[in-house]
Amino acid sequence: MCGIVGYIGSRDAYPILIKGLKRLEYRGYDSAGVALINNDDLNVYKTKGKVADLESFCEAKNISGHVGIAHTRWATHGEPSSVNAHPHYSESKNLAIIHNGIIENYAEIKNNLIAKGVKFRSDTDTEVLVQLIEYVQVKKNLDTLTAVQVALHQVIGAYAIALLDKREPNQIIAARKQSPLVVGIGENEFFLGSDASPIIEFTDKVVYLEDGSIAVMRLGEELKVVNILNRELNPLVHTIDMNLGQIEKCGYPHFMLKEIFEQPECLKNCMRGRINADADQVTLSAVIDYKERLLAAKRIIIVACGTSWHAGLIGKQLIETFCRIPVDVEYASEFRYRNPVVTKDDLVIAMSQSGETADTLAAIELAKRSGALIYGICNAVGSSIPRATDTGSYIHVGPEIGVASTKAFTGQVIVLAMLSLALAKEKGTIDDQTYNAVVKELSLIPDKMKEVLEQNDKIADLSRIFTYAHNVIYLGRGYSYPVALEGALKLKEISYIHAEGYPAAEMKHGPIALVDSDMPVVVIATHNAMYEKVLSNIQEIKARKGRVIALVTKGDETISRIADEVIELPKTLECLEPLLATIPLQLLAYHIAVCKDKNVDQPRNLAKSVTVE
Ligand code: AGP
Ligand code: GLU
Repeated sequence: MCGIVGYIGSRDAYPILIKGLKRLEYRGYDSAGVALINNDDLNVYKTKGKVADLESFCEAKNISGHVGIAHTRWATHGEPSSVNAHPHYSESKNLAIIHNGIIENYAEIKNNLIAKGVKFRSDTDTEVLVQLIEYVQVKKNLDTLTAVQVALHQVIGAYAIALLDKREPNQIIAARKQSPLVVGIGENEFFLGSDASPIIEFTDKVVYLEDGSIAVMRLGEELKVVNILNRELNPLVHTIDMNLGQIEKCGYPHFMLKEIFEQPECLKNCMRGRINADADQVTLSAVIDYKERLLAAKRIIIVACGTSWHAGLIGKQLIETFCRIPVDVEYASEFRYRNPVVTKDDLVIAMSQSGETADTLAAIELAKRSGALIYGICNAVGSSIPRATDTGSYIHVGPEIGVASTKAFTGQVIVLAMLSLALAKEKGTIDDQTYNAVVKELSLIPDKMKEVLEQNDKIADLSRIFTYAHNVIYLGRGYSYPVALEGALKLKEISYIHAEGYPAAEMKHGPIALVDSDMPVVVIATHNAMYEKVLSNIQEIKARKGRVIALVTKGDETISRIADEVIELPKTLECLEPLLATIPLQLLAYHIAVCKDKNVDQPRNLAKSVTVE
């Protein structure tokens, strides 16, 4: 779930490990720790709290060593505490392990080991694994790698692990199953990370470990990758195109604000090479490569979680409008467990920023069994979902560090718009005039977004009024309904204010009972086919003394007269309005959270990539 960093080489490991952990802090965690090999010692230091707390804890300790591993933990088994923090020693303290993920059969293994006399120090599933490795190593007199392979045979669950053995001081062993792990290759040195961000400062050569592989990093040797049966695998070395600026704050107080503001640029990157210079044609390589099967699809199922699911709801409307194919949008977590009807004639689109969400990966595996074509729409290049899918399109909006997703959402909507246009063109379900108009308008969105962002100061002022609120309702219709859901999710996630998104017309079927003078209601009321109807909804709220913040199309005087606050959006096509309407809602959530002094980039209880169920 959280962060793994490793280093082996000629430099001091500790500063590299700490820096790496800081780069992974965005994932959200509750404790941190480090293990270092120094001559014949294997030192483990760990503490509850932040990486800065770990640094203070290590101040008077021996932190020398050229080989080390480090971890940020997001507890799944055992409360967040210094004892449960990783790394975990084996009983003899010869081995130390760090682990992301869950060992599902830990209780059974633990009971067996206890029966054989093994003593445990923590409540974690992770300690069970390191004790098991030591147990088989001693019992069968195995080298460390073989002991790891034998132990992993017995383990059910998801893991990315890194292991040190003080008797083999020039070696790190790492293994993965369903949890990401990346090896960085330098000059006579190796780096390890649960994603590339702790590595890119040092090398651009990386190997994304495949599921079921075990990496052996030894000083003075080439990287060796084997599977659990010790069959040697050929690691594919990628050159990554990510720079440090992309993962630093660049003068912004928070990553979230930086990511909100970089949306115009990111969306241009997302469309680059896909929309031509004349802005009259969309080309997606996946649509060319898989044309036949895409055109044959009788139904589309979009599977995703959270914000990605909201983007999927917009995708449904775009695809149904332009391609005339029925689209279902499913929570991956529900889909995977409810025996859904999926056939080989379906196209399943898996959407995920991180590309590592466990439920979405499981939904893909289930859909694959029925022979459906699987199309991934992801941001993190080389992550598990793009590798598990038949084809797909990257969002290409750069690393998203803030836990609350912003630019990935708009990137996903852009990709879905491009996909629906490219497919519709091939199917002949869109007329030339509409096609040209939408493609042209897509290319203008980044500049229109900049106009919206210019209202940041106004939104910051306005947000101060709403810090008192305990509940907020967000309303929208048609394409704006998923935007209302997303606006409410953003507010919940980072300001901890309860918020609900509703289709505006559903108000009178229940939620209107909540409206009084204390209730802010955010309404997306842009000038489109639903305008008159949303106007009536606003009047209903005002009649109950609700406080209306309306997002309107520039120049709208009618709503400006009725609403308490208005935020103006440039005119665009109705189907692309979500791309503009989302921005003020992201900013509103951001500023309210800042006013309330909340941890915007790492909200409580949340993690950036949810790699466990
Ligand atoms: C978004 O702000 C959330 N933190 C969360 O809902 C997220 O969108 C969800 O966990 C899915 O993540 P993914 O896109 O990486 O699969
Ligand atoms: N399941 C392990 C624990 O609770 C690892 C959690 C993580 O991925 O950080 O310690």
